[in-house]
Amino acid sequence: MSPACRYRPGLRHWHPLLLSREVGRRPVARRLAGQAIVLFRTASGRVGAVAEACPHRRLSLAVGRVQGEDLVCAYHGWSFDPEGAIRCPLMPARRQKHQAFQVCEAHGLIWVREAIGPQPPLPHWSSDGLMLAGTVMHHVPVPLELTLDNFTEVEHTSTIHQVFGFADPREIKHRIELEPGATHVWNSGPQKWFLPLFNGLIDNRPGDCFANDWVTTFEPLLTIYEQTWLSPEGKLRRFRLKVVMFFVPLDNAVTQLVTLIFSPRVLPGPLHRLLAAPIIRAVTSRELNLDVWALKQLADLDTELNPLSLGPLDRVLLENRRRLQPNYLSKLV
Ligand code: FES
Ligand SMILES: [Fe+2]
Repeated sequence: MSPACRYRPGLRHWHPLLLSREVGRRPVARRLAGQAIVLFRTASGRVGAVAEACPHRRLSLAVGRVQGEDLVCAYHGWSFDPEGAIRCPLMPARRQKHQAFQVCEAHGLIWVREAIGPQPPLPHWSSDGLMLAGTVMHHVPVPLELTLDNFTEVEHTSTIHQVFGFADPREIKHRIELEPGATHVWNSGPQKWFLPLFNGLIDNRPGDCFANDWVTTFEPLLTIYEQTWLSPEGKLRRFRLKVVMFFVPLDNAVTQLVTLIFSPRVLPGPLHRLLAAPIIRAVTSRELNLDVWALKQLADLDTELNPLSLGPLDRVLLENRRRLQPNYLSKLV
């Protein structure tokens, strides 16, 4: 890990790092909180994650190969099992360990944590009877705090977003509720004008009231959004979205968003999976691309909030920073 890493050494919570299908027999390199990691799938299907630099002479284990249950370094053939046990052809009796990370697979994702302290449970959430429309990944080239600021602030939905947003920030009814380990935000107001194709698919109409409520928790950093629509007569529309978003610090300047999107079935039989789910996934992912675009336009990557002229919808940012700091950041912000 770089000594200049901004994140706490030893993130002890589970972080979703890759889609399960991204890890096959060929090793893949990733970063988590500034640490370079190589992940690989053994012959029996287990996934291992070890520090990228070979402890012998620092070759990247990402150019190694999987043999049986081991990852074999391409330079001198030392091998490593998923727990980090080292086998060296010239010193077969020597017992050595390489840094290994704990790994588990669930929800179509590979979750990684440092092997320290008691193992916490995986994050869990209720799908509320909704169907998974897809899981999308985005890499945001800004630090964790700035990424979280964007995704827990509602004002920009009127300007940056094209589908999931409020027509006018002055008409948003906004409320926050605070707990020691969570922030809750409720927003409601007139919905932006929808794309006609999407409108038809989900049976929402211009003039609907949009409600975008979310809760952010910090072990690991996660926001769960509940998005619903009301007709002008106050009737809840059938279509709604539940969005589960993880914020994963890859390194000082890059944050990975892992977003699971849940919706009701909107088309019968396989048509939902073949047509509706891909559209819902694509529309949501495009909205997230607009967030990424906005974050890329930041004039600098200063994470300090104090000198800024914050508005009335920004209060939750300060509250989130207080709760984020003890778990993630290696210095006070
Ligand atoms: S550098 Fe990996 S075995 Fe020598
Ligand atoms: Fe946004």
